[in-house]
Amino acid sequence: MAALAIREDGVYVDATFGRGGHSRAILERLGSAGRLIALDRDPQAVEAARAITDPRFSITHAPFSELARVLDAHFPSTGVAQVQGVLADLGVSSPQLEDAARGFSFRADGPLDMRMDPTRGVSAADWLATATEQQIREAIGGYGEERFAKQVAKAIVDARAREPLRRTEQLAAVVAAAVRTREVGQNPATRTFQALRILVNRELEEVALMLPQAIRRLAPGGRLAMISFHSLEDRLVKRVLRACSEDRLPPDLPIRARELPQAPLRIAGKALRASAAEIAANPRARSATLRVAERTGGVLDESILDRVFTQHGPEPWRS
Ligand SMILES: C[S@@+](CC[C@H](N)C(=O)[O-])C[C@H]1O[C@@H](n2cnc3c(N)ncnc32)[C@H](O)[C@@H]1O
Repeated sequence: MAALAIREDGVYVDATFGRGGHSRAILERLGSAGRLIALDRDPQAVEAARAITDPRFSITHAPFSELARVLDAHFPSTGVAQVQGVLADLGVSSPQLEDAARGFSFRADGPLDMRMDPTRGVSAADWLATATEQQIREAIGGYGEERFAKQVAKAIVDARAREPLRRTEQLAAVVAAAVRTREVGQNPATRTFQALRILVNRELEEVALMLPQAIRRLAPGGRLAMISFHSLEDRLVKRVLRACSEDRLPPDLPIRARELPQAPLRIAGKALRASAAEIAANPRARSATLRVAERTGGVLDESILDRVFTQHGPEPWRS
């Protein structure tokens, strides 16, 4: 909440409603003229949001890669909608992880689905049924940073030749047999499940598409707060925020940054990790990193983002 520096009469976006912990905290800080526009791609989260009947609040079932469209629908007459803050608390929610029927967990048996929005896209089971061994290896190595990606991919392809992989327990057992070493306190299937979840939900593409829309729609002085839960996500956020806030002039240039068009963002403080007390109260906060930037009056031109993608390749979360 501090990162958002909430203005009572501001318009805010909670791009990841979940069960509304952040949304409720924002509403408490808004005055009667303030507004909160929430999004979630999970129909169950949207259903939970219907319990909030506050007239300052609205919820839309949409992925946040459609942020601009959602804002336009809210402000049909004003043309370019401007907001004072955008918050995204990325990844899956506890209710998603804990409901075996959603297929995110290797701890409880359920259908191998993993879609945050089961009304769209392809389930993990369907993807694993048709992907090539190389695609599986690349996904598990790239998104799961799994050292045994090659062995896991081969084990999956061998297993699916015997019987279709349709249950989380089946996949967890296949992976456990292929991963040779054990990381302390971590289930051997953790990395594979993370990889499939990121792939099935196109999580990094979602963030890459959302960030420029959020930056464009923020009013000067408005805040962007991004909470990431794994290094690929955090790397992407960090690179985009840095590229949009940098003065890249060599010191001997006879002109200073302030005389040139301004960068569109200013980084607001260092990346924040959860305190020991917060982790004790909420263990899932242990892997969270919060990055905050403030919008300036500078223009976001495409070349800034192009620079991130040229320097780090088409998938800047990888390198
Ligand atoms: C970590 S939880 C958010 C918890 C929330 N801050 C709260 O206080 O309850 C992440 C939520 O974001 C949603 N989500 C993840 N990626 C999304 C995306 N690309 N577009 C929209 N919602 C997304 C998930 O469905 C999930 O409900």
